[in-house]
Amino acid sequence: MSVVGIIGGQWGDEGKGKIVDLLSEKADMVIRFSGGPNAGHTVINSHGEFKLHLVPSSICNSHAISLISSGVVVSAEALLDEIDLLQRSHVAVSNMFVSERAHLIMPYHILLDKLEEESRGGSALGTTLRGVGPAYEDKVARRGIRVGDILDRDNLIHRLRIALDHNNTIITKVYGAAPLSLEDIYSQCCQYAERLAPFIRDIEPMVQEALDSDALILLEGAQGTLLDINFGTYPYVTSSSPIIGGACIGIGLGPTRIERVLGVFKSYITRVGSGPMPTELMDEVGDIIRERAHEYGATTGRPRRCGWFDAVAGHFSAQVNGFTGIVLTRLDVLDGFSSIRICTEYRLDDKRIRHFPSNSSVLERCEPIYEELPGWTGSVSHVRRFQDLPAEARTYVARLEELIGCPVDFISVGPRREESIVIRPLA
Ligand code: IMP
Repeated sequence: MSVVGIIGGQWGDEGKGKIVDLLSEKADMVIRFSGGPNAGHTVINSHGEFKLHLVPSSICNSHAISLISSGVVVSAEALLDEIDLLQRSHVAVSNMFVSERAHLIMPYHILLDKLEEESRGGSALGTTLRGVGPAYEDKVARRGIRVGDILDRDNLIHRLRIALDHNNTIITKVYGAAPLSLEDIYSQCCQYAERLAPFIRDIEPMVQEALDSDALILLEGAQGTLLDINFGTYPYVTSSSPIIGGACIGIGLGPTRIERVLGVFKSYITRVGSGPMPTELMDEVGDIIRERAHEYGATTGRPRRCGWFDAVAGHFSAQVNGFTGIVLTRLDVLDGFSSIRICTEYRLDDKRIRHFPSNSSVLERCEPIYEELPGWTGSVSHVRRFQDLPAEARTYVARLEELIGCPVDFISVGPRREESIVIRPLA
């Protein structure tokens, strides 16, 4: 067995979908381990273009078993929509399974996500409004409904009554909104159960069996390290652990089993939603990057905030995850800039600092200190070997390796599978 983690190194949207699609050509099993339908993974291959939110990005490689593990919060409706969409495009979904232990996002979670965001006013987090945060809250509070629960109707009505009593109290008493109906939600769950039943499995024995064989297993991260509930820019974070540690917890995987941990980084940086972002470009350069790279959220369509590569944050990400290698994406977006900047330090008050502050209000006060490198002319999209990149692009990559602290294993120079430079392939 060989286990490789694919982890977002920034604030999500680093292009993990394409990388998982590419690397899963050789994989036997791919496991999505955290987050929920807040993720938007874009995959473009011979089957078409897909924006996946829950289904693992390996789905077009039908030989690989695609699993949604217990660490994910699942919207049955969103999952069924995705299954329908894939089937309409003749993509086989018979090799995809969802863990009985995964928690379900319920209609009251979606409503609460909206009510909570509205009540935050100017301090709103900018969530994706998919009910992800409230679903994780119920999970930790031990009143969540798990995927396996919908297959047992007596248990379901019992669990649902407990969860809805609590959530309706908050909906009505805290927010003054109308309560949701137990009967409606129960009958909706029964309908979902019929359609989802063939996909629901006790997936953990499948994972253990693969670990005991010579299988290649990919761990598919969602969101990014800087959105991690523990290590991200709290409170402007998501409610799960997108870091490699989240894969151990979300799958039931011993850390010693993981051979490689790939940190996926855009060649610049983006963020969607609120929170500090030291290298954000509020000028024409930011607009050029956004339009050139079509930086609009795959889940919500919101414009992404764009900025130069933040190597202080990148180094922190590498430390938190123990990255063994980097996947650098969207290098082509930097084509034609006369110079390119990298943030190597922050200025905080009168000091220069190299560490990523734990406190968002401190990070808010940090100003980027940039190093300027020459850009390159022409397009890198057609390049397939590292040595064929323009010298300035190779210098840029080498400097990022130095600053982040690990080698670049793969470079993506366009959205399609083949628009890739493989430096250190998977075994
Ligand atoms: P939530 O995960 O919907 O609760 O949103 C919390 C924060 O994480 C917001 O700033 C979202 O914009 C951000 N977020 C959640 N999922 C993604 C993602 O897949 N890509 C980028 N940002 C995300």
